[in-house]
Amino acid sequence: MAQRGGTSIDSDTERYDFVVVSNRLPVDRVVRRDGTPDWQPSPGGLVTALEPVMRANDGGWVGWTGTADDDQGPFEADGLHLHPVPLSAGEVERYYEGFSNDTIWPLYHDVIAQPTYNRETWETYVEVNRRFAEASADVAAEGAMVWVQDYQLQLVPRMLRERRPDLVIGFFNHIPFPAYGLFSQLPWRRQIVEGLLGADLIGFQRRADAGNFLRAVRRLFHVPTPHGRVELPAAGEGKWPNSMSDEPRTVVAKHFPISIDAAAYVQLVETESVRARAAEIRRDLGDPTTIMLGVDRLDYTKGIRHRFAAYAELLDEGKLDVDDTVLVQIASPSRERVETYKALRDEIELTVGRVNGEFGTIKHSAISYLHHGYPREEMVALMLAADIMLVTALRDGMNLVAKEYVATRADDDGVLVLSEFAGAADELKQALLVNPHDIEGLKRAILAAVHMPRQERRTRMHALRRRVLTHDVEHWSRDFLSALAEVRPTASAQAAA
Ligand code: F6P
Repeated sequence: MAQRGGTSIDSDTERYDFVVVSNRLPVDRVVRRDGTPDWQPSPGGLVTALEPVMRANDGGWVGWTGTADDDQGPFEADGLHLHPVPLSAGEVERYYEGFSNDTIWPLYHDVIAQPTYNRETWETYVEVNRRFAEASADVAAEGAMVWVQDYQLQLVPRMLRERRPDLVIGFFNHIPFPAYGLFSQLPWRRQIVEGLLGADLIGFQRRADAGNFLRAVRRLFHVPTPHGRVELPAAGEGKWPNSMSDEPRTVVAKHFPISIDAAAYVQLVETESVRARAAEIRRDLGDPTTIMLGVDRLDYTKGIRHRFAAYAELLDEGKLDVDDTVLVQIASPSRERVETYKALRDEIELTVGRVNGEFGTIKHSAISYLHHGYPREEMVALMLAADIMLVTALRDGMNLVAKEYVATRADDDGVLVLSEFAGAADELKQALLVNPHDIEGLKRAILAAVHMPRQERRTRMHALRRRVLTHDVEHWSRDFLSALAEVRPTASAQAAA
C-alpha cells in the first residue's frame, strides 16, 4: 500500500454500493523521526484480512486514522477509498482504550484480565458508535451492503438501520463472544445485543461463539432462535423493546472462520530475497538445530508467559539446551496506554531478562525478544526459518499467525503447536493441540515438536496446508457476503459478486 499522501475524495458526492466500517482504517497516521507525517499499515489481523476484500469490491472504507484530533478528510490510498472518522483525545481514552479495550476485550476473552465497568466510558462508546453510524450512512448508496467489523462497533448496526432501513447490514465479530455467565456481567448487555441485532447477518469466528450469542438473545429477550435464526417480533410485541422495524425481522447468527490471503504468502515464499533472508536469519541465530518462534501483539490473551514458563522449565530440566535451541519472540507493541498492557510488558520483559540471565551463554541467548512490528516479507522469512511455531493463546478469536505459518511452509515442513483456545484449532486439527494452562502438557508438546520425525511433519503440514489454501480470506468473505445477500435478497447484490 502506498504509504504517503493520497488523492482526496469528495465526500459530498462519493457513494458506494459496498462499505466496510471498522475502528481502524488499513493505514495509521504516523510521524517520522524527522517530523514528517506518513502512513503505515495498521496492526492486527482484521486489516490484513479485509484489505484484499476491499480491493476486490471497490467499496468505501470508514474508520479511524489511529491519531487523536486528526482532521484528515476522505482520501484514496493505493486504490482504496478511505473515509476517516475523527476521534478526540478524550474519545480515544474512553471509547478505544476504555470501553473497547478495558471492558469488552477482557470480558470477551474470558476475563483473563479483570474488565472495568465504567459509565463514562460506556457513554463515549455510544457517542462514538453513533458517529461511525452517521459516517457510514453518509457514504452508502441506496440499498448498499454495509459490513461493520468487530467489538468496537457493536452498536453501529442498529444505529445504522434506524437511519437507513434500505441498507443490507452485516456484522462480523473478530474476537470470541463469551458464554452468557460472563457476558451477563456487562451492565449494558441488553443495549449491546440490541445493537448487534440491527444487522441482518452476524458472523462469528467459531460455532461456539455464535451459540453463546444466541443464548444471550434468548436469555435477554425470550425470542426464538431456531437454527441460528433470531425471529424478532414487530416493534412493541413481546419482550423485544426496540422500534427498529414495524415488521417482524429475521437476523441470522452463524460462524464464518476468517482466514488469510494464502496465495500472497505462497508467492512471497517463492521470492529469492525472502528465502535468502530466511537462511540469513538462521545463520545470525548461530545455526541452531531448533528455532522456535512466537509472533504476537503484546497482549495478555496470547499466553506468552505460559510459553516462556514451559520453555524455561525444559531448559532447567536439561531437556532443551541453548547451544542448539532458541526461542524467537516477536511481541509487537499494542494498546500501550492501557494499564494491563503496561503491566504485561513489564512482566514479559522481566521474564526474558531472567531466562536469558539464567540459561544464556556468551554465545547464545535462550530467548531472542523483539518488541517491534515487522513488514510482511520479514515475518515470512522468520516463519520459513522457524522449525516450530508456538501459538499458545489463552483465548483468541482466530489467530491468523497460525494460518500464516502454515501458508509459508510450502516445503511441507515445520511443526505448529496450537492452543485449543484459539479459533484456528477448530480447523487446524493436525497441529499439536495444547491447553496452555497445562504447563506439563505444553512441555510435552514442545518436546514432541522438537523430536518429530520428518515424515510425520510432512504428513501433518500437508493436511494443514490443504485446509488453509482452500479456505482463504476470499472464501471467508464470499461465504459471508453471499449469506448476507440471502438473508436480505431484495437489496442483495451489488457487492456480493
Ligand atoms: O480483532 C482484534 C483487533 O482488535 C482488531 O479489531 C484490530 O485490528 C486488531 O485487533 C489490533 O488492535 P488495535 O486496533 O487495538 O491495535
